[in-house]
Amino acid sequence: MTADSAGSAATVVLRRAGPGDVPEVAIVERACFPEDPWGEASLGAELGRAGSVFLVALGPGSVPVGYALGWCVLGELEVLRIGVSPTARRGGLGRRLLVALQQEARAELSFLEVRADNVAALALYASLGYSPIRRRPRYYADGGDALMMRLRL
Ligand SMILES: CC(C)(COP(=O)(O)OP(=O)(O)OC[C@H]1O[C@@H](n2cnc3c(N)ncnc32)[C@H](O)[C@@H]1OP(=O)(O)O)[C@@H](O)C(=O)NCCC(=O)NCCS
Repeated sequence: MTADSAGSAATVVLRRAGPGDVPEVAIVERACFPEDPWGEASLGAELGRAGSVFLVALGPGSVPVGYALGWCVLGELEVLRIGVSPTARRGGLGRRLLVALQQEARAELSFLEVRADNVAALALYASLGYSPIRRRPRYYADGGDALMMRLRL
């Protein structure tokens, strides 16, 4: 399936996630993070958490093709998860989701952590103005480094 048949970013609708979205979001999550996906229980628990902002992107047939999840406390957003189905990537949806998450959170500062070898995510974050603030060597179980990034909104 091409990006078009998965729904271009322009035709994808973004809204707050609800309990009914969790099973399909979990499918996208597994496609995006096959090595350490959050399960339905973990994703569902975020819906009721204070400060949580959980957005879902609905493609054709209102099927979730992306999501973004963050916590915002005292004006600081922590981006926890962002993922776009492999078939819907490179159409601007990841950027749209992250911008919407920032706007919904009404935060002054946004923080996130990313694998230092995640080329796509690093390019997305840099394109929105995020700057690296710290490197955590061997942060991940496989020995990969993490980068902490920050954006003043
Ligand atoms: C990271 C991710 C969310 C990006 O989603 P996306 O919808 O493809 O991103 P966009 O189309 O909005 O791309 C926005 C910008 O990011 C950069 N980018 C995205 N994918 C890229 C890639 N594969 N290679 C290089 N740059 C890339 C580009 O700068 C792009 O802008 P451009 O298209 O104008 O050049 C997606 O690749 C994904 O779900 N990856 C797996 C999960 C993941 O790694 N999440 C982040 C964990 S920290």
